[in-house]
Amino acid sequence: MNMAVINPPEDAASVVARNRIICFVNDEISATALRKGLEGSNVSINRGTIRNAIRLLETDTDLFALVADISGIEDPFTELERLASVCPPDVRVALIGESREITFYRGLMEIGITEYLPRPITRDIVLDELRPRLLGDVAPGPADRGGHVISICGAQGGAGATSVAINLALQLAETTKAKVALLDLHLQAGETAVMLGVQPGPGLRIALENPMRADTLFIERAAIEVNERVSLISADEDLDVQLQITEAGVRHVLGLLRQRFNYIVVDVPVPFPPSIYPVIALSRHVLVLLEPEVTGLRNAHALRAAVTSIAGQDRVFTLLKALGAEPDMIIPDLGKRMTEAVNLGIPALKHVSRLRRHLAPIVREITGVGAGRKGWLRRLLRL
Ligand SMILES: Nc1ncnc2c1ncn2[C@@H]1O[C@H](COP(=O)(O)OP(=O)(O)OP(=O)(O)O)[C@@H](O)[C@H]1O
Ligand SMILES: [Mg+2]
Repeated sequence: MNMAVINPPEDAASVVARNRIICFVNDEISATALRKGLEGSNVSINRGTIRNAIRLLETDTDLFALVADISGIEDPFTELERLASVCPPDVRVALIGESREITFYRGLMEIGITEYLPRPITRDIVLDELRPRLLGDVAPGPADRGGHVISICGAQGGAGATSVAINLALQLAETTKAKVALLDLHLQAGETAVMLGVQPGPGLRIALENPMRADTLFIERAAIEVNERVSLISADEDLDVQLQITEAGVRHVLGLLRQRFNYIVVDVPVPFPPSIYPVIALSRHVLVLLEPEVTGLRNAHALRAAVTSIAGQDRVFTLLKALGAEPDMIIPDLGKRMTEAVNLGIPALKHVSRLRRHLAPIVREITGVGAGRKGWLRRLLRL
């Protein structure tokens, strides 16, 4: 078979961003060693520590690698936790610090840090140990730093799945300052774009049908910025076309999104088509919206069983739109203003002030915020 895949030429800006290395170090010796050792690459050396790096990443994540100083930082793991919440998972992170303890070094490697160098560093240390790890084609560490997938679906039509997906994505980004993708797998008559008042970007259907057609620039083309941290990936295919979504395509698209975004909130069609099983298998949370009716409860049980058989584990949280049974969490009926928001094409968060309060426990569950110190490592691993 002869197959031609034509990818558009990479634009200069994305090549530059791909090789961009940003360093924050606090002493002249380290700064010089990095400047000399990383010469020839697109490197910028700044005065500062991991704290300055976190501040930068809150607004600028177009980089390939980060080198940050943790000298003098009392609790580096707390700062690393904050870093993990704003740093895209595919950015390589190296640290420079004072500790020479092997357990400390191992702890950093376990959470996916690319390299750690104790001070003082020299040009040759950077050349021999840091440069190959940052710029060479080093296999990723044992830690899975791919973004966290949250699937959302309704046990019956109109239960509020899309409303929760949209507003949860916005609130997650607002609370954690992380990059969030909202992926709408209803390629025909999906409602996320309409509800956000935007036009879907191109290419999602083709990418989901044929993974060979989705290169790394797929996201640049398909993702529509909802705001500086939240992007929508959706489609608006004609109702009369027969879609050929493949499992390989779904896995590939999700893989690309997980490299770029910290959270991927997916509006999932029900019943689950077999092609989207990889999404369910990779989800850390599956939220099922239901109304307090017999059909809702019955379908919620069926969905829970489906998730367990696909993912091998029960990851379902049921969210009830109104009081009645015993769900994990409740979103009360918030009245006509919810539908008004849909008609206005604005996120309900901006129109219904009470919604934020009811989404907060879900955001806490997903991000683990408030779960105590014990959970930091696990959270960091996954972010
Ligand atoms: N908590 C709520 N209180 C009041 N109205 C709500 C609430 N959640 C959603 N709605 C309204 O219910 C309607 C259906 O919501 P939505 O489209 O989010 O549900 P869905 O489960 O995605 O539906 P579909 O089955 O069509 O995909 C919308 O008009 C929305 O504004
Ligand atoms: Mg919907």
